[in-house]
Amino acid sequence: MTTTTLASNQPCWCGSGRRYKRCHRLADLDPARVAAEQARQEQQERLAASYVRPGRLSPQRQVPAHIPRPDYALDPHGRPRHRESGRPKDPETIALMRVAGKAAAEVLQAVGDAVRPGVTTDELDAVAHEQCLQRGGYPSPLGYGGTVAPFPKSLCTSVNEVICHGIPDSTVLKDGDIVNCDVTIFLDGVHGDTNATFLVGEVDEASRRLVDVTRDCLEVGIGAVRPGARVRDIGRAIQTYAEGHGYGVVRAFVGHGIGRSFHCDPQIFHYDNPDARQELLPGMTFTIEPMITIGDWHHEMWGDGWTAVTADRSRTAQFEHTLLVTDDAVEVLTR
Ligand code: MF3
Ligand code: CO
Ligand code: CO
Repeated sequence: MTTTTLASNQPCWCGSGRRYKRCHRLADLDPARVAAEQARQEQQERLAASYVRPGRLSPQRQVPAHIPRPDYALDPHGRPRHRESGRPKDPETIALMRVAGKAAAEVLQAVGDAVRPGVTTDELDAVAHEQCLQRGGYPSPLGYGGTVAPFPKSLCTSVNEVICHGIPDSTVLKDGDIVNCDVTIFLDGVHGDTNATFLVGEVDEASRRLVDVTRDCLEVGIGAVRPGARVRDIGRAIQTYAEGHGYGVVRAFVGHGIGRSFHCDPQIFHYDNPDARQELLPGMTFTIEPMITIGDWHHEMWGDGWTAVTADRSRTAQFEHTLLVTDDAVEVLTR
């Protein structure tokens, strides 16, 4: 126990020049409180050190000239020239989307097979890139326009507290991480878009449960798709399921119409949005891609204009499929 004879208005003994009461009096009186504050600060610093940070980008990957590119890949800002409507697709487009969807699923599987402790997200990008080219497809993210700069890589890799659109770089995946890999391929004039969250080595129980519930959220959303249902029904089903398990639903990113355009109408909310009254019709194609959080669902953006993280840095997971509304229910094009 420290005893002191300094009056509270005298200069502090430590030489700071401040009055004792504004400086060390608390420490002198209550060392336990000071130790607790210091421990809290140290824990904050340890946590901050474990957060994802941007790594180094590898040189841009090239696409051979014989592989057809989407229109935005020919624009320096990555802006699409045309955006198709959200109306039902013609049978020819649907047939092509079945092929692109299957290709996307295969590429995603190859990327998932490469996930292990020690691999960099850039190495996963290389797998996605090569797998798309091998199938005669273009990796849709490469050069796709954004608010700051076009997306520089062929795959999105989103680790731990990264919600979506993480950019592959020199970041090394370590035992206990979770990583979402989001594959989109442009093949024969149409896009197939699918993603999954993978476990890196041994992952803690809380994260495994998050990943399991998020996978189920996608299935629950798919289960709400049928002709005559409304867009709102999808989000309501997902939100009810996620919140029933104590999780949050990210609001800032939505599923989307897809086909000859990477992103078009309709927007598919993953929460109950009463404004989403649009009716689902046979022939419509869109994605469902819920992003679910252990903690709070609010997000923040990195300066790169792409990487979205949870505001509270809690972990988050995502799964995505491209879907077709059929005459009686739904077909998953990226299974
Ligand atoms: N595949 C993402 C989606 O599900 C979009 C990625 S856009 C990119 O909509 F530019 F970041 F690749
Ligand atoms: Co998508
Ligand atoms: Co996607």
